[in-house]
Parts: sequence; C-alpha cells; structure tokens
Amino acid sequence: MGSNRLYCSSLTFIILLLSISIQCHSGKSEVLKVNYYNESCPKAEEIIRQEVIKLYNEHGNTAVSWVRNLFHDCMVKSCDASVLLETWNGIESEKKSGRSFGMRNFKYVNTIKAAVENECPLTVSCADIVALSARDGIVMLGGPRIEMKTGRKDSKESHLTLVEDSIPNHNDSISLVLSRFQSVGIDIQATVALLGAHSVGRVHCVNLVDRLYPTVDPSLDPTYAEYLKRRCPSPNPDPNAVLYARNDRETPMILDNNYFKNILKHKGLLLVDEQLTSDPSTLPFVQKMAADNDYFHDQFSRAIQLLSENNPLSEDLGQIRKDCRFVNK
Ligand code: HEM
Ligand SMILES: *[C@@H]1O[C@H](CO)[C@@H](O)[C@H](O)[C@H]1NC(C)=O
Ligand SMILES: *[C@@H]1O[C@H](CO)[C@@H](O)[C@H](O)[C@H]1NC(C)=O
Repeated sequence: MGSNRLYCSSLTFIILLLSISIQCHSGKSEVLKVNYYNESCPKAEEIIRQEVIKLYNEHGNTAVSWVRNLFHDCMVKSCDASVLLETWNGIESEKKSGRSFGMRNFKYVNTIKAAVENECPLTVSCADIVALSARDGIVMLGGPRIEMKTGRKDSKESHLTLVEDSIPNHNDSISLVLSRFQSVGIDIQATVALLGAHSVGRVHCVNLVDRLYPTVDPSLDPTYAEYLKRRCPSPNPDPNAVLYARNDRETPMILDNNYFKNILKHKGLLLVDEQLTSDPSTLPFVQKMAADNDYFHDQFSRAIQLLSENNPLSEDLGQIRKDCRFVNK
C-alpha cells in the first residue's frame, strides 16, 4: 500500500515535470490561440474585417500595405507591432530604416484600432491588428483564407537596430535571403511562396535603376528592360518622386501566381525576385507555383502562418497599446 502510494506520487511528479517541459518547449503555440478574443472581445475579428473591407473600398492599396506590414513586423524579432511605433520619447521608429522605404497607409491602422478600441478598450493588441488585417487584406486581394491565431502582445520598444539584419535588401544574394527566413523557421518552399506577395503593389525606381544603368542586367528580358527604362528614365531618381513600376502588370492588385510566371520569363523587378529562378534550390518551387495557383495559395497560407507566429511576446514582456504609434505611458 505504502510503496504503491510512493509509486503513484513519483509518477505524478514525473508527469508534472514532463508537462512543464512540454510547455516550455512550445511557447509559441501556448501564447497564441484560435479565437483568443472569443470572450474578452467577441466582435474583434469581425470589426477588423469590416474595417479592412471599408478601407479597401476607399483605397485599394491599403490591403497591399497590410501584407507588407506583416512581413516587416514579424521578420524583425517578433510579431509585436514594433513596426508601427513612431519616433517619440526615446524611441526611434523602424520606419527610419532604408528597408522600410515605400511603406505606406500607416494612418489607416489607426482607423482600424479606433474601431476596435471603441468596442473593447485596451483589449486587442496592435500586433494582432497587424496580423488580422494582413489575413483579411489577402482575401481582398484574391488570395487564400488563412486561419490565424491571436493573442500577440505589443512591444515596449522599437527594434530599429535589428531591421537591416532581419529584412534582406532588394539586391541581396539568394543564400542570404534563405538564411534570414530559415532563422525564423521559414523553409525554402515557404520563402518562395512569400516572395509571391510581390505579385501585388509597386517598386520605386530607386530599387530598380541598378539593374538598368549604366548597362542593363543581362538576366532581364530586353523588351521588359525597355519598359522599365521608360518607367524609370533616370539613373538617379529623386527618391521622393513617385516613380515606380508594378510588380505584376497584368493583375497588380491580385495575389496570384503571375509573379512566378513573370520571373520565369525574366520579368522580375528586384534582383531577389530574379534570383529565385537562378538558384537550384528555389527554381523547382517557382516552376510548381507558376504552373499551379492553388498550390501557390496553399504554400502561401502555410508560410503566412509561420511568419505570423514568429516569437510572440508573453504577457509580461508585452502590453496592449492604446495607440499603436506609442508605447503606453
Ligand atoms: C527577400 C525578401 C524581400 C525583399 C528584399 C523585399 C523588398 C521589397 C522592396 C524593395 C519593395 C519595394 C518598395 C518600394 O520601392 O516602394 C517591396 C515591396 C513590397 N513587398 Fe517586399 N521584399 C521581400 C519580401 C517580402 C515579403 C515576404 C512580403 C510579404 C509576405 C513582401 C511584401 C511586399 C509588398 C506587398 C510590397 C508592395 C508594397 C506597396 O506597393 O506599397 N515582401 N519589397
Ligand atoms: C466561444 O465562447 C463561447 C462561450 O464561452 C463558447 O460557447 C463557444 O463555443 C466559443 N467559440 C469558440 C469558437 O471557441
Ligand atoms: C545594393 O543596392 C544598394 C542601393 O540600394 C547599394 O548601395 C549597394 O551597394 C548594393 N549592394 C550590392 C551587393 O550590389
């Protein structure tokens, strides 16, 4: 009897230890849950969706911005809305980084946040607004419906000094690009799918002219290069002038596999886009995505999930910002 009890309690102890260690090793999934606001703010996800739709109907390119915001937020340390912080009170905004060039529509994040605050004050994080607006923006752009967990917390700091080490440059090598994504748990196939986001939106001439002047990059399709030179007639474009080219001229507002068809025809805008087709580890995925839009959408969904779950802050490290632009007083 006595030894039996001893046996039972040590078994309980071992199970306890095991469950503690399991919890420690899956911090990611412990913090985030499907329908996290079910009880604290049941209408949160629907309000965000409605605001994204309203904004899309007024300014279609807001949906494009929500997709890029997710990348620039989650890739840099954590999905913690650090990308939304303004330079103020000792904080230096990540928007100062050259990597943030061309990001737009930040003011409309405040519109979404205001609608959510109106329903449930200080309950829904800005980081979840970044994630859910990207999810809903993707649907507006004809992309897949993605199941997304919530429960992210907002950072109390900006990560400006980490931006350049996290977000690749437009002309970085494919091996550097792959290793950056690898370091946040995003595999090669998912990385290729994520670059498919360049199926929507625009690129300013400053990010293109190196491929056009003084000589045209021989990997560019010559007719396409002529078109780009008409779009960007000067080797030294004024960065403030809104001179840009479309990532995908046929369907610039649809998140489809035209991007992959284009890069296979050497009509990619950025050097990183072009290089997806010259590296043997990425080319097979590019070919598969170019041939099959559903496959692209499946991989894009999986990749967005991975990206959106990168290193969420736990309760004690984060907060729910009242205004997404500033840390709470
Ligand atoms: C190697 C990785 C990447 C590099 C080097 C890169 C670089 C760039 C550059 C240089 C621009 C043009 C900015 C401008 O001139 O206005 C751009 C635009 C854009 N990027 Fe990326 N990007 C990368 C990955 C991604 C990923 C993973 C996503 C999202 C999943 C993304 C979404 C976008 C979107 C939506 C735009 C268009 C923005 C607009 O029209 O306002 N990018 N990117
Ligand atoms: C949300 O919460 C309610 C009440 O707590 C519950 O009945 C419902 O099943 C929950 N829904 C989801 C999707 O978790
Ligand atoms: C990449 O482009 C930037 C300008 O945007 C330039 O300063 C840098 O030298 C380029 N890097 C390489 C490796 O070509």
